[in-house]
Amino acid sequence: MADQYILTEVEGSVAVLTLNRPDVLNALNIPLMDQLIETMERLDGDPAVRCMVLTGNRKAFAAGADIKEMAEASVVDMYERNNLARWQRIQRVRKPIIAAVSGFCLGGGCELAMHCDMIIAAESAQFGQPEINIGVIPGAGGTQRLSKVVGKYRAMELILTGRFFGAKEAYEMGLATRVVPTEVYLEEAVSLAKEIAERSPMAVRFAKETVLKAFESPLSEGLDYERKMFYMLFGTEDQKEGMKAFMEKRKAEYTGK
Ligand code: HXC
Repeated sequence: MADQYILTEVEGSVAVLTLNRPDVLNALNIPLMDQLIETMERLDGDPAVRCMVLTGNRKAFAAGADIKEMAEASVVDMYERNNLARWQRIQRVRKPIIAAVSGFCLGGGCELAMHCDMIIAAESAQFGQPEINIGVIPGAGGTQRLSKVVGKYRAMELILTGRFFGAKEAYEMGLATRVVPTEVYLEEAVSLAKEIAERSPMAVRFAKETVLKAFESPLSEGLDYERKMFYMLFGTEDQKEGMKAFMEKRKAEYTGK
């Protein structure tokens, strides 16, 4: 049987996915990434699941792509493997994904966290794009996503020096949604996921898609898209239920219809 690199636990309507290569600080090899992508796509299609949490362990979320797997590769090997193209499938997951980060969150690990929709950082979290120290550059979106989040001048310094930065700095730069004590980082992420899972699943997915549109399009196009998505929600039972519940001063019960 293949190694189980992704552990999955479903708590109510929240799925917790744990990266499981602790001996190598969850270095992201190709089999792990394949298992992760397949698991996320399966959960994305499971109506019982409304939100996902992606985590590692206290010591490491992930210390990057597996250096040993790629150290001897040629350009042709890398081009043929083309494993980074598969990461785009994470970007297409429609349900929200919250990264719960403790310890090292480096290189591909930081890029993986940035594929998620929110980042809950433990006080112990250490972020960084240290690829420059091993003669390469970020390859799974780090140059683009980090620059969009923290701006050109801070991204340049971080990517060109490869220095690590802590949870507080990540929060101040807008990379982390929240910083929480290390003892409770996973509980905090799960509790946030549960809060989101109580909302209308259609509205949540539309909201995620529309916020992501802000990073892909000019303002006028994004506003147009938002307006259409807003109107579309009036075709759902959840919109009727949500507004009726407000008027009846009760909690809405959403079905995802
Ligand atoms: C393979 C890794 C690894 C990695 C750690 N390990 N990071 N193996 N790939 N990225 C392994 C080590 O070889 C070691 O295995 C074990 O994990 C424990 O690591 P140590 O180095 O002994 O731990 P420590 O001294 O605490 O140092 C922690 C560390 C250091 C500072 C995080 O491990 C480190 O610098 N790792 C590499 C970080 C990095 O450069 N990441 C970017 C990778 S490139 P053994 O068998 O020796 O005990 C990248 C490109 C992205 O991510 C492109 C797109 C995906």
